[in-house]
Amino acid sequence: MLVLLKKESLVTHLFLRPKDPEQETWQGRRLGLESACEALSIDQAWSVDELDEGVLELLENIESVYFSFSQISEWLDPVSDWIGRLKQKVRQGISAPNKMCDLDDILHEQRLFKSAEEISRMRQAAQISVKGHLAAMATVLPGKFEFQVQAELEAAFVREGSPRVAFSSIVAGGHNACILHYTENRDEIKNGDLVLVDAGAEWQGYAGDITTTFPANGKFSSSQAILYSLVLKAQQAAISVIQPGVAFNVVHETSVKVLTQGLIDLGILKGELKTLIKNESYKRFFMHGTGHWLGMDVHDVGAYKHNQAWREFKPGMVVTVEPGLYISAEHSDMDSQWHNIGIRIEDDILVTDKGHEVLTVGLPRTVAEIEAQMSVFSALR
Ligand code: GLY
Ligand code: MN
Ligand code: MN
Repeated sequence: MLVLLKKESLVTHLFLRPKDPEQETWQGRRLGLESACEALSIDQAWSVDELDEGVLELLENIESVYFSFSQISEWLDPVSDWIGRLKQKVRQGISAPNKMCDLDDILHEQRLFKSAEEISRMRQAAQISVKGHLAAMATVLPGKFEFQVQAELEAAFVREGSPRVAFSSIVAGGHNACILHYTENRDEIKNGDLVLVDAGAEWQGYAGDITTTFPANGKFSSSQAILYSLVLKAQQAAISVIQPGVAFNVVHETSVKVLTQGLIDLGILKGELKTLIKNESYKRFFMHGTGHWLGMDVHDVGAYKHNQAWREFKPGMVVTVEPGLYISAEHSDMDSQWHNIGIRIEDDILVTDKGHEVLTVGLPRTVAEIEAQMSVFSALR
């Protein structure tokens, strides 16, 4: 437990497990109190055994206690107990805190804006994720199982030093790509399938989040190529609007507009662009948002609106851009050429002073680039 105590200056206190050779033989190494100050840049280390009395002492003559209200059930009992006990010390001239405050908004706002150090970690998380996706593309063939592709993808992450995935990897062939949170990854990939891979590596506490979609046999069918190019057009249009001062929802509105117009042009949606957008007809094929904040968590913390208004981008924010189209065979009213095509294209974008930077550069993205890359991988086999 970390206590940041602000009186005249800020003093950091950490309560942690003391060293214990016998326990460490069973459970693994402990940092211990002696090394903690230097290793973690804190001012004072305490044993967890001293937690109750120690925090009680630290809270003496403090006005406000901040803790995360998203973990309020965990903190309310101990904090009320400490405050109650301090109130009984009033005759000794000791005062108890009189405010409990939510730490979430403060912390979440700090997490939304990345420092130079955080940006370099996110760049690395993104680039390790790129390597994993390339490894996945290199291994895909009709007849492989989705979990075998997942194994190569995640092996590449680990080889690059990533300790864990940032979230459960999705490797979805054919109709499975139309299930947004498909993580079973257990089916055989068939000739003619598109493969959708949504995966990211974690690096020094920060997440990458990339989706690639490519043909199992190395060549897009014409229907697949048409829909893929439409999603890519929507993604590139959406990325291109990102710059300081633009509101978060403009990214989604941009991708919705391109996708809806494209679906009209293909005869898949019928009607006026404005009306189809207004009554959300596109949601039949594009049912999720275009992106989210990215950082220590994949769907990272941070407010999307301030006073009911979508907030504007500012330098240091990182956002994903991930439009998609999903047409399962359930859409029996549709021409079967579109059936079982699930496509999503996702990149991680840093807002910079003048515009944006794509952190996840290095992947083949157009139909031609993907087919060329797949044929290189095939020649290397
Ligand atoms: N991988 C989760 C997401 O793209 O939001
Ligand atoms: Mn995402
Ligand atoms: Mn993703």
